Amino acid sequence: MTRNGMHRIYCDNAATSFPKPPEVLQAMVHYAEHIGASAGRGAYAEARQSALVIRACRERLNTFFNGENPDHFIFTLNCSDALNMVIHGILKPGDHAICIAMDHNSILRPLNEWTSRGVISHSRLAVQPGTGLVNPADIRSAITPRTRLIAIGHGSNVTGTVQHIEEIGKIARAASVPFLVDAAQTAGHIPIDVQAQGIDFLACPGHKGLLGPLGTGVLYIRPGMQKLLSTVREGGTGSVSERDSQPEFMPDRFESGSHNAIGIAGLSEGVQWLLDKGINHLAAHQRAMCQAFITAVTGAPGLTFFGPQTVADRVGVFSVRLAGVDPLELANELEEEFGILTRPGLHCAPAAHQTIGTDQPAISGGLAGTTRLSFGAFNTTAQVTTAAAALTTLASRHLKQQTPPSRSPALHAHV
Ligand SMILES: Cc1ncc(COP(=O)(O)O)c(C=O)c1O
Repeated sequence: MTRNGMHRIYCDNAATSFPKPPEVLQAMVHYAEHIGASAGRGAYAEARQSALVIRACRERLNTFFNGENPDHFIFTLNCSDALNMVIHGILKPGDHAICIAMDHNSILRPLNEWTSRGVISHSRLAVQPGTGLVNPADIRSAITPRTRLIAIGHGSNVTGTVQHIEEIGKIARAASVPFLVDAAQTAGHIPIDVQAQGIDFLACPGHKGLLGPLGTGVLYIRPGMQKLLSTVREGGTGSVSERDSQPEFMPDRFESGSHNAIGIAGLSEGVQWLLDKGINHLAAHQRAMCQAFITAVTGAPGLTFFGPQTVADRVGVFSVRLAGVDPLELANELEEEFGILTRPGLHCAPAAHQTIGTDQPAISGGLAGTTRLSFGAFNTTAQVTTAAAALTTLASRHLKQQTPPSRSPALHAHV
């Protein structure tokens, strides 16, 4: 990747993954050139082919996440859309929900919106400030007879912290409380098994670790749980059109309107790429990148990175701060001098920043938050080491600039 002749290293995979596997792009071009039709909206071969492309993607997702039935993977606009479909679809007036302080605004805002309207109540549980991990026992204690949803971000998009969802899943199942997992930062990076981990609803972006294009998302609904979920939008499904009410069957019940078939064609190849590489192999690559980053930045003067300080309980999302340096300035320096692309600010997760103490600007008038580097399947450990070296170079330069010039001993003696 180059721009104006300068080599660039993309470290913003937590926002969206880049690059995509060539197969993803080829499938989208093929769709545009040779299929083009809208699935379920025609009897001709191309419309049938479009339906087959969509079906293949569901099957691959079902294999990848060890689902029970491909029809229980619903296509959405993005991860926020999938989260909203569950939060607004399951909660009824008087219900209570549980989330945690590391959650993204895509969980916090829907819960806050309905709480502020007096429809529901919810508890936002504190986490351990160092690691960002919630104690599963705190979740058990927060469950009340009115609790109708536990919504947890699997991986933090601020610190990379990975919650112990299997343990939380057991608690949720024992209490018969539906369990929603936001896998925006983990799907495609570490193994997720919806059956083994007791997940009732899994929300994923298609465009991050699953390597599909922007504008794709996925919602897994455990068989049976769809009965608890009201639709949040209704419309044409290309099926049972004689009825003016929403079909009961999956996946049509939750997929109103024409599909983003070209996006799904790309997503399908992204998931196939992950299946071919193997998630254990990709997770090992994530761990190697985390280790390379941690080794290279540990001990750098004035540089802090947040969340788990070892490779355990984390993915490759690193929020950093240089003492006394604005996160935006750091991001600009990384881009302009080293071609390293990062994201500064609060990352749509203000409560996570409160937890780690970075919700206030590092300097007066600066940007609140941190500078975030996030690594994906196409980053190499060499790139990670280069990015970490750039950080340590900037750390020592800023430290020198901030250190007042030493005074002569004679002058010292008079102050
Ligand atoms: C943890 C987490 N949840 C949800 C989202 C929302 O994802 P999307 O942009 O696909 O709606 C993000 C995006 O950054 C995220 O990091």
